[in-house]
Amino acid sequence: MDKNAFSLTALGTAFMRGYHARFDHPLIFNDPLAYGLLTEKERFLIGQHLIERLKSVDASEETACLGEEGALRRALQLYTGAATVLSRAKYTDQALEVAIGRGIKQYVILGAGMDTFAFRCPRALKKVEVFEVDHPATQAFKRNRIAELGWTIPPGLHFVPVDFTQKSLDMLGTRPPYDPAALTFFSWLGVTYYLSRVNILDTLAALARISPPGSLVVFDYLQPNRAANPKEAARLKVIGDSLKALGEPLKTEFAPASLSSDLDRVGLRLLEDLAPPEIQKRYFHGRTDGYHASEHIHFALAAVK
Ligand SMILES: C[S@@+](CC[C@H](N)C(=O)[O-])C[C@H]1O[C@@H](n2cnc3c(N)ncnc32)[C@H](O)[C@@H]1O
Repeated sequence: MDKNAFSLTALGTAFMRGYHARFDHPLIFNDPLAYGLLTEKERFLIGQHLIERLKSVDASEETACLGEEGALRRALQLYTGAATVLSRAKYTDQALEVAIGRGIKQYVILGAGMDTFAFRCPRALKKVEVFEVDHPATQAFKRNRIAELGWTIPPGLHFVPVDFTQKSLDMLGTRPPYDPAALTFFSWLGVTYYLSRVNILDTLAALARISPPGSLVVFDYLQPNRAANPKEAARLKVIGDSLKALGEPLKTEFAPASLSSDLDRVGLRLLEDLAPPEIQKRYFHGRTDGYHASEHIHFALAAVK
């Protein structure tokens, strides 16, 4: 990501959650606020970009005859990471709910982008302090948008700008009201892809240093061997090329077989590594539209040792 530019993929994922909440049924994840965080012009431009992406890879007569709405729906379901965006958000909300029931006191949203948790779940903010940690440029963009919309920032929501490539997450531990002694739940959705392996492991090590044992982290990651299924490999190439063009190229993948030892070295114990077939079963079973689990993306849940 460019040092001074906000994340365009953060707008893209908000569009995916917003579109889904408005137009899809049944819902995988309900984010009724995401669409409102984008201007009409942004929604239009993202929609056009996705339709062009579909037409560049699928010149079939069927696609040509779809019309704007149908083409956008097909593009979202087949040629974006929308299914991953929705299912990882659901997975995280479910894990967070359990963690809050067990007494977690803080929720840190790493690489928050246009996440709306603090606005959609006001009751949860009575139980946890929420910290949005994001690249300074993306966070400034979001705060500005919230101000333009006239949304009230709840007292339990705190913004902490951090560029994971420049500064260690350790600094969060020195920023009250963050409490390094309080059990904490971290989510890190849609971010590991864009960082180097060193930056990822440094950030995980830092979160293990600034939170007590039993704190949790959820993140998603890309596994290697993407050429195994040629159709899926082609689909991922389209997505990868488009991310590169947006200035946020895919950088890092983790081998599921060694994830546990990778995490062990940075002070974390892997509790769950949700593989694509299980993601498919949990979140997409019985769907008749195009949403399905990506064959190369996992969701991991780990605890601070
Ligand atoms: C694809 S968006 C995901 C946003 C959100 N978590 C979601 O699931 O919709 C990627 C996020 O990672 C953040 N990010 C990327 N590189 C970063 C860096 N070096 N430091 C901090 N945040 C970064 C971006 O600012 C953006 O918010």
